[in-house]
Amino acid sequence: MEIFQVTNGRLGFLSKRFTTILVICFIALPVLVMAVMMSTNSKFDISSILGVEVQNATALDVDSKPTTTSIPDDKLNDTQAHVFGRGSDPEYEYSQPTSTPDDKQLSKTLASSSSGGSVSENDTSQSTSIHNVNLLNGTFASRFGERPGSRNDSSESTSMANDKLLDGLSPPGFDERSCLSKYGSVLYRKISSHKPSPFLLSKLRNYENLHKRCGPYTEPYNRTLKILKSGHVGSTTMCKYVVWRPDNGLGNRMVSIASSFLYALLTNRVLLLDHGTDMADLFCEPFPNTSWLLPMDFPLRNQFRNSELRYAHSLGGMLEKDRKNLLMGSTPPYLYLTIKKRDYDLDKEIFYCDKNQALLGKIPWLILLSEQYFAPSFFLIPSFKNEATKLFPEKETVFHHLGRYLFNPSNQVWKQLITRFYDANLANADERIGLQLRVFHANAGQIQTVVDQLLACTLKKKLLPEIDTRNSVASSSNNWTSTKAILITSLYPEFYKNLSNRYLVHPSLTGEVFGVYQPSHEGYQHRGDNKHNMKAWAEIYLLSLCDVLVTSAWSTFGYVAQSLGGLKPWILHKPGHGVYLPCKRATSMEPCFHYPFSYDCKSKNKVDAGSLVPYIRQCEDRELGIKLFDDEQS
Ligand SMILES: *[C@@H]1O[C@H](CO)[C@@H](O)[C@H](O)[C@H]1NC(C)=O
Ligand SMILES: *[C@@H]1O[C@H](CO)[C@@H](O)[C@H](O)[C@H]1NC(C)=O
Ligand SMILES: *[C@@H]1O[C@H](CO)[C@@H](O)[C@H](O)[C@H]1NC(C)=O
Ligand SMILES: *[C@@H]1O[C@H](CO)[C@@H](O)[C@H](O)[C@H]1NC(C)=O
Ligand SMILES: *[C@@H]1O[C@H](CO)[C@@H](O)[C@H](O)[C@H]1NC(C)=O
Ligand SMILES: *[C@@H]1O[C@H](CO)[C@@H](O)[C@H](O)[C@H]1NC(C)=O
Ligand SMILES: *[C@@H]1O[C@H](CO)[C@@H](O)[C@H](O)[C@H]1NC(C)=O
Ligand SMILES: *[C@@H]1O[C@H](CO)[C@@H](O)[C@H](O)[C@H]1NC(C)=O
Ligand SMILES: *[C@@H]1O[C@H](CO)[C@@H](O)[C@H](O)[C@H]1NC(C)=O
Repeated sequence: MEIFQVTNGRLGFLSKRFTTILVICFIALPVLVMAVMMSTNSKFDISSILGVEVQNATALDVDSKPTTTSIPDDKLNDTQAHVFGRGSDPEYEYSQPTSTPDDKQLSKTLASSSSGGSVSENDTSQSTSIHNVNLLNGTFASRFGERPGSRNDSSESTSMANDKLLDGLSPPGFDERSCLSKYGSVLYRKISSHKPSPFLLSKLRNYENLHKRCGPYTEPYNRTLKILKSGHVGSTTMCKYVVWRPDNGLGNRMVSIASSFLYALLTNRVLLLDHGTDMADLFCEPFPNTSWLLPMDFPLRNQFRNSELRYAHSLGGMLEKDRKNLLMGSTPPYLYLTIKKRDYDLDKEIFYCDKNQALLGKIPWLILLSEQYFAPSFFLIPSFKNEATKLFPEKETVFHHLGRYLFNPSNQVWKQLITRFYDANLANADERIGLQLRVFHANAGQIQTVVDQLLACTLKKKLLPEIDTRNSVASSSNNWTSTKAILITSLYPEFYKNLSNRYLVHPSLTGEVFGVYQPSHEGYQHRGDNKHNMKAWAEIYLLSLCDVLVTSAWSTFGYVAQSLGGLKPWILHKPGHGVYLPCKRATSMEPCFHYPFSYDCKSKNKVDAGSLVPYIRQCEDRELGIKLFDDEQS
């Protein structure tokens, strides 16, 4: 225990706020910080260096059994919780967790000392339940008080209930314990100023009923499977499906799931995910009393990896071979549809051309592979345009609403990674600044370029202050005006090194005190691993809880964070592309559709998809991409 000292120095304000919940406050003075940093050299175990407060409550105790999980606890244990590995690139960036002896010591001590806390061990939901008023005295209360747009502690439970259901996005009557994040998010995220349209809400409720009626192993589902086998599509009243298949990194997958869900909404299809093994346990089931996971015994699964079969049953492949048959009305029971950045151009042409949507509409099973955010295309395809604009009168909120509706962290990700890291590191800051830093073609020179760019951007736009190089933080203690937390997500330690050297050693000229945190910096990428995806998801979510975001161009990882958080990030310019500006403010929080169609169905000429309607224009970070903007701004 001697390594844990509760000090009431510079961070003494913390202990005032943490009455029963906070018990161990582990603080290192700046000088010590430097000493430890020097001695550990490249091994930056941030949580053990920077003074992490650890809560006593069993809510943060990984030993308590999550209510819904199929992963053994030892797969994701204490040592990893504070410093979970992984980087910022949306594409294949996964990494091993790091831990130092200090960290292990910390978790061991915690594990043995934290039982019998004030929060019931047996009901994990209490820790995030907003009905439990006592808990609001701790971190949560202080956070509410300081956040713009937050309500008074005494505010009515009706408004809380409203917020809790995200203005109606979340269906009522859900078992809260099965998805703590769904209702707990209100305690962590600012209330959105963007309200979903009543039409969207009613569409979602109808969709939920449809999904429940047609979901896996229901009678209609079983019936359509028979059609798959018989090959004969008769009745038009049966349930229809879109099966989403994974491709590329987590950010790409999430934007493509959201796009597929919008397609399902617009075509009255049921969305089922082939989540594979590396996406298990990331998200809660979004639809009540049913599942969005494609059953393992789905008959076409054995075809999924056979590209010849896939092509033979693809839109393009079938049309080439069998145009007449298709048009004569012998509807195939299933079809593969590929909407990727390259290849399958015929699929894309067909998909985006209105006349073919009628044909697609008859096919019971569409099996869709995409890594793109193709949602904006529905605002251009004539047969969907009206309904899409009615669902989203505020056009830049498509992912903001659908993402918050669909992507709620699983209990395991929520408790062991997100809330744990947030409570320990970010909760008490007056402002959280999230930096999502991707380095293209990483080498020392490129990394340095991005470090320069980051500083140029954050100083120029006054996101971060200048420092007082003549003084050290130690000499000006107790003279701060506010506290800020800088959350860095990157594969590389250079950003952390630079910013912590700046702000932990020298006081800022504005009198703000900084904490600098980076959950991981692994330098290389992993793929296909559920655990790493969980950490990636936690980092995306933590970024989305920040007040200010700086992101890298072309990054779906950043897009998901900004849209979930309702934030317009400062986007770092991609080095080597056009005019040199360090960064630029996004004017829409929507993700960018990187590879939109460029084919005019009527004239069969090339067309610029960013010039057809005022609310779809070139992305801020990519000339070839398009995204949705609000009408008002056009
Ligand atoms: C934590 O997980 C790591 C890697 O999975 C494992 O080596 C270690 O033994 C685990 N520690 C505990 C306390 O379970
Ligand atoms: C945790 O909190 C409880 C109740 O406040 C207290 O009795 C217990 O000693 C605390 N545990 C530690 C390790 O301080
Ligand atoms: C768990 O909850 C049940 C019912 O809510 C209660 O009877 C029991 O004492 C609790 N167990 C612990 C260890 O708190
Ligand atoms: C929370 O605050 C209320 C009123 O201020 C007080 O009665 C209660 O004891 C506090 N609870 C905790 C756990 O500090
Ligand atoms: C909070 O309460 C105070 C006093 O009760 C009131 O003046 C203030 O307007 C309230 N703030 C909000 C956001 O409701
Ligand atoms: C889900 O099922 C449970 C038990 O059957 C029921 O109590 C609950 O109301 C249902 N929820 C919804 C949203 O249908
Ligand atoms: C659908 O088929 C599965 C087996 O494939 C069966 O377990 C289930 O009961 C069937 N559902 C209905 C409603 O008959
Ligand atoms: C504390 O801040 C005030 C105003 O920001 C400044 O005038 C004063 O010199 C500072 N004191 C120390 C010890 O830095
Ligand atoms: C941080 O990077 C800037 C720009 O490259 C450089 O001027 C500065 O010396 C670096 N600071 C530290 C502490 O590494």
